Amino acid sequence: MKYNFDEIIDRKGTNSMNVEGFKGYIFGAYPGIEFPYTDDEFIRMWVADMEFATAPEIVDAIKARADRRIFGYTNLYDDRYYKAFSSWCERLYNWNFPQEQLVFTLGVVAALYELVGDLTSEGEKVLTLIPAYSYFLHAAEHNQRELVCSPLKKDSEGRFVIDWNDLEQKATAPDVKVMIFCNPHNPTGRIWTEDELTRLSSVIRKNGLWVISDEIHCDVLRCNKRHIPLGKIMPDYQKLITCMSASKAFNLAGMMMSNIIIRDESLRNIVHSHETCDMNPLSIAAVQAAYEKGYEWLIELRSYLDANFEYVYKFFAERIPTAVPTKAETTYLAWIDMRNTLPDIRDLPLFFAQKAGVLLEGGDSLFVGNAEGFIRLNLAMPRSMLAEGLERIAMAIENYKKQSVRE
Ligand SMILES: Cc1ncc(COP(=O)(O)O)c(C=O)c1O
Repeated sequence: MKYNFDEIIDRKGTNSMNVEGFKGYIFGAYPGIEFPYTDDEFIRMWVADMEFATAPEIVDAIKARADRRIFGYTNLYDDRYYKAFSSWCERLYNWNFPQEQLVFTLGVVAALYELVGDLTSEGEKVLTLIPAYSYFLHAAEHNQRELVCSPLKKDSEGRFVIDWNDLEQKATAPDVKVMIFCNPHNPTGRIWTEDELTRLSSVIRKNGLWVISDEIHCDVLRCNKRHIPLGKIMPDYQKLITCMSASKAFNLAGMMMSNIIIRDESLRNIVHSHETCDMNPLSIAAVQAAYEKGYEWLIELRSYLDANFEYVYKFFAERIPTAVPTKAETTYLAWIDMRNTLPDIRDLPLFFAQKAGVLLEGGDSLFVGNAEGFIRLNLAMPRSMLAEGLERIAMAIENYKKQSVRE
């Protein structure tokens, strides 16, 4: 490997949400919560950023831009960024879009909040599949809209699949106007097949829905997988918005720059009029470098993550066989069914924080619904850290079982 994914990097004192913000995010409802671990002692397997350094090519590009020393008002006035990003889409997805459709927001969440507000009126509803990233719900609630949820179900091979009868029935309701679709899917790790996307596209088309295709995880795939943008399946559908970003694959969430591809001109104008138009010069340098020079790093990241997933599957099979990790085709997030392992623990994140010193997410309160009894483990970390986290999880379960037998 050319790049070192085994390096442990100290994030303390960098104002990172991962290190310093976990109490509010995971345990928001517990004021003054105390743990038998100091903040330093936790293994952090929660929020979807990575314990890896970003690609050195990106760091160099940020430094080169910093060396220009002036950081005045900035925007994109040449087409170098568009060329970098559209070539990336061409190379990875064999898909493209015209330059004028590209809009920027300070993150995909910011786009969701904005778009749900723009696309719905009072009394209208937003549709999504659950379990879901919690900000799909927050985006609806922020705009005082109801989120209509269609639960994914498991097929005979244990894959999460769409319940078509349920989805079709919910999509038909006259007050449902927008669908937020996670492609590929966090937290279940599904890459939707061409057949599934085609069937979904006909549900959307038949009901004239707006669709926000959140494709933020599209670059982090298992090595043998390919992502299909929904825009490729629906090339002429004007009511489609695609959200992409370099933030997940290149660990750039804090740079706050995401690509929102909006086909409909009037919607684009509304978004332009609401969003601050200026951009961060260091973010442009970073994201452009990711698309221009980050491919080789990404390929190595993917193989490191594939090996981390294999490590997790083997560990669970040997040490915690009652818990079932879903085979993740995408993301660095393992979605694990703990219902047969800890059936009487209601708050799994709290249990593992207190008993194992491991920070993780799970359950309906963090994933909207259809998520009770599941945990999500972030595996984007050096293998030694991953091994320690898993060991602690196994020990906490073993101790709990022993204690239950004694009682
Ligand atoms: C599906 C999905 N959308 C959006 C986000 C966050 O996007 P951003 O950081 O660009 O606001 C996440 C982060 O985990 C996510 O999983």
